[in-house]
Formats: sequence, C-alpha cells, structure tokens
Amino acid sequence: MADDKTVETTGLLGWVDKRFPLTKLYKEHMSEYYAPKNFNFWYFFGSLAMLVLVIQIVSGIFLVMNYKPDAELAFASVEYIMREVPGGWFIRYMHSTGASMFFVVVYLHMLRGLFYGSYRKPRELVWIFGVAIFLCLMAEAFLGYLLPWGQMSYWGAQVIVNLFAAIPFVGPELAIWIRGDYVVSDATLNRFFALHVVAIPLVLIGLVVAHLIALHEVGSNNPDGVEIKQGPKDAKGRPLDGIPFHPYYSVHDIVGVAGFMIVFAAILFFAPEMGGYFLEFNNFIPADSMKTPPHIAPVWYFTPFYSMLRATTDDFTWLLAGASVLAAIVFLIKGLPGKMRIIVPAILIAVAIALKVFDAKFWGVVAMGGTVVILFFLPWLDHSPVKSIRYRPTWHKVLYAIFIVNFLMLGYLGTQPPSDLYNLLSQVGTVIYLAFFFLMPVWSRLGTFKPVPERVTFRAH
Ligand code: HEM
Repeated sequence: MADDKTVETTGLLGWVDKRFPLTKLYKEHMSEYYAPKNFNFWYFFGSLAMLVLVIQIVSGIFLVMNYKPDAELAFASVEYIMREVPGGWFIRYMHSTGASMFFVVVYLHMLRGLFYGSYRKPRELVWIFGVAIFLCLMAEAFLGYLLPWGQMSYWGAQVIVNLFAAIPFVGPELAIWIRGDYVVSDATLNRFFALHVVAIPLVLIGLVVAHLIALHEVGSNNPDGVEIKQGPKDAKGRPLDGIPFHPYYSVHDIVGVAGFMIVFAAILFFAPEMGGYFLEFNNFIPADSMKTPPHIAPVWYFTPFYSMLRATTDDFTWLLAGASVLAAIVFLIKGLPGKMRIIVPAILIAVAIALKVFDAKFWGVVAMGGTVVILFFLPWLDHSPVKSIRYRPTWHKVLYAIFIVNFLMLGYLGTQPPSDLYNLLSQVGTVIYLAFFFLMPVWSRLGTFKPVPERVTFRAH
C-alpha cells in the first residue's frame, strides 16, 4: 500500500472506499500508525488483552447455547456442559481460565503503564478509559461468577451485595434493589445473567474502542518515555524513531500471542482449576441458601481489594481518625500558606468525625472502592520530571518494588481465613497502598533524576 494518504483505490476496494473509509482507517491505525521502534516485552499485553477479550466473547457465546439461567437448573446445566456437550469441557475451561488470564494480562498491562509513565500528558484519557475498562472487567467477572450457582457463587454474591447495604441511608434498599429479592435468588441470577452476557460486554467493547482511538490520536509511549512526535522527522513528517504498526508490530505481536497460547493451553489442559485459585473447590458444590461455607473468599484477582475491605475494622478507623486529628494539629501549628491554613486542618477534622460517625463496614466499602477509583487520578498525582522508571532515582524503583510486593501480599492475605496477624498485615498493606498514591505528589518529584535522551534507545536485534 502506498504511503500517500490521497492515493485513489480502484475496483471493489475503490467502490467501498467511496462509501466507507476502509483504506483510510487501515492506514491510520495499521500501515501508517507510527509506533516507537523500541517497544519491549511489556508492550505485548495490550494486544493480548484484545485476544483474551475475543476468547471470552467467543467461548461465552458457545456456553450460552447450553447454559440455563435458572436457579433450579443452572448448576446442572454447567455439569451437563462439562460432561455431555461435545467439547463442552474445553469451552467452559477456556472461559474460566480466560477470566483469570484476562486479569493476569491486564494487571501486567497496567504495571507497564505505571513503569513508563504512560498515563502522563498527553495520554490521560487513554489511562482513564483503561481504568474504566478495569472497573467493567471487575463487574463482568463478579456477575459471571454467580452463574454456575455453586456455593462460592452464591455466598460470594451474598457478601458483595450485602456490602451495598452498608451505605448510609439508602444502603438496605439499594441491596434489595440489586438482588431483586431479600436474599440472592433466581431473580438475582436472571439479572446478573443479562448484565454479564449483554450489557457489560457492550460497554467493555465500547470502552476498548475509545481506549484505542485515544491512544492513536496521541501516539504510543515507549520504555524511554520519549515523545517520538516531538523528535526528528523525515521529509514526509514521519517520526524517525517510529515504525509502521503493520507489518512490524503486527508480526512482533504474534510472538506474544504464541507465548501466551502456550501458557494458556498448558493451564487449560493440565491445571484448569489451578489448585482452587482459578476455580474454587467449594464451587463444585451446588448453591445452598441454608448452609454458609466456613470460609468465603473471592477469586484471586479480587483478593487484594478484599483484603483492604477486611482490614477496615473498628480499631482501624479509630487509628485513622486519631492520625487525621494529629495531622490537623501539626498543620495548625506549622501553618500552611493562605486559605489552606484553615481548610486543610478543617477537612482532616471532618474526616476524623466522619470516620467515627459511620460504621467501619461502610468505610471498608469506601476503602475497597477508593483503592480502584484513586487510579483515575494517577495522571495528576505523579509530578516526576521524567516519565519512565529508567530515568528515575533508584529509590523510586525500590518504592515500586515495595508497592508490587505489598499488592501481592494483600492478594495472598485475601485468600486466607482472617486471623489477628493477617488482619494487622492487611492494615499495614492498606496504609502502604494508599500512601503510595496519596503521597505521590510529594515523593515523585524528590531525588536525582537521570537525563532523558533526545531519541529513544534502541539496539537492533
Ligand atoms: C480489555 C482490556 C484492555 C485492552 C484490550 C487494551 C488494549 C490496549 C492496546 C491494544 C494498547 C496498545 C498496545 C500496548 O501499548 O500494549 C493499549 C495501550 C495502553 N493501555 Fe490498554 N487495554 C486494556 C486495558 C487497560 C487498562 C485496564 C489500563 C489502565 C488502567 C490500560 C492502559 C493503557 C495505556 C496507558 C496504554 C498506552 C501505553 C503506552 O503507550 O505506553 N489499558 N491498550
């Protein structure tokens, strides 16, 4: 395909192009989308997320052909798919393994964004659409988990929907409205099915399209965090550090797809339950509204957030209220500039009062929601003079490492039955998670930064 955007197409393609911008779209997003030439391993995960999205939609369509969204029939219909439907086990394992792999891929994709400052100007909207995708993905996974109607499906939904009841004033009514009943029941299953199969996937696909349109408008970031559009260009105005997405990265991404497929197939064929992490053992028991399982834990991808929910006990809110009052006193004594002198301590005192006026359960819900919502603000929390981790002070890298280990620790704690020690660790973990973001405007600008090169660093291989 010629590079000139004004080239006239002929024949059938010409006929289509006069009625629909097919060639124009192909050029803008594939053959003439100039991506930085130094993409590395971490840049596989965007295309892999798209692959998993397709796997989930296709396997989901086949599952729906035999699944029955009825509290009397749902569990048996899943067993029927596993035992009687030809290839049914394969489709079901593809979908259940796909759900976990979606989160593996998306967590790594988000981590890449964090490492290379891909959320910074001009990619704020790319990131915001990304966080909205992440929220949708969480909703999609939660809704889908009720469908097999096992013990964990039932009690997991019961626990999470009950959280809404902790919202002051409207909570109890809201929880009934969500369930469509006083407990999780057939009505709940029906609506969760509708949302999981139709509503959320539509929103998800729309958001992914918006995510990519926004990305292609501003161009991709890269491991150096150097803007190739601001660097040197050739006679036609194309960035010298950019290469056409197609064929270079379309072929490059096939390597990622092959690697992913090997891992995916290995799990699917040899360890689809993943020791109870991908498919929980309790979920092989049909839902029983009269029998609560001794230990209720969500699937692994929710457990870091679940830990932060459980960490928010009454003692913990006392501690936070005390810390807010102390901070208010320190600010009053030290004195802040202008109106902030009064406003900041007043807000801190109001927070301390609110912490004790409302129930700890409600603050647990706020903590769980807030730890995701805070991601929306990341572009404005990071004040570092460089984008990429490569040019940050070494101790910033240590902070990132602590953040990651802490997130994994919270994830592990969320899978375990509560104990005093684990509760304390979850509380420390929650404080570290929140401090990482809330203190970012301060710590991100401190230290000695390395000089950022004019051009991307690239070694041909
Ligand atoms: C269904 C889920 C998702 C899909 C299909 C998807 C797809 C993609 C694709 C294809 C790219 C370009 C290739 C690449 O840079 O890897 C990309 C870039 C990006 N995505 Fe996503 N994404 C998803 C979720 C997310 C989430 C949850 C976030 C963050 C919260 C996010 C943030 C970003 C950012 C910041 C970039 C630009 C990266 C850069 O240029 O360095 N994405 N995404």
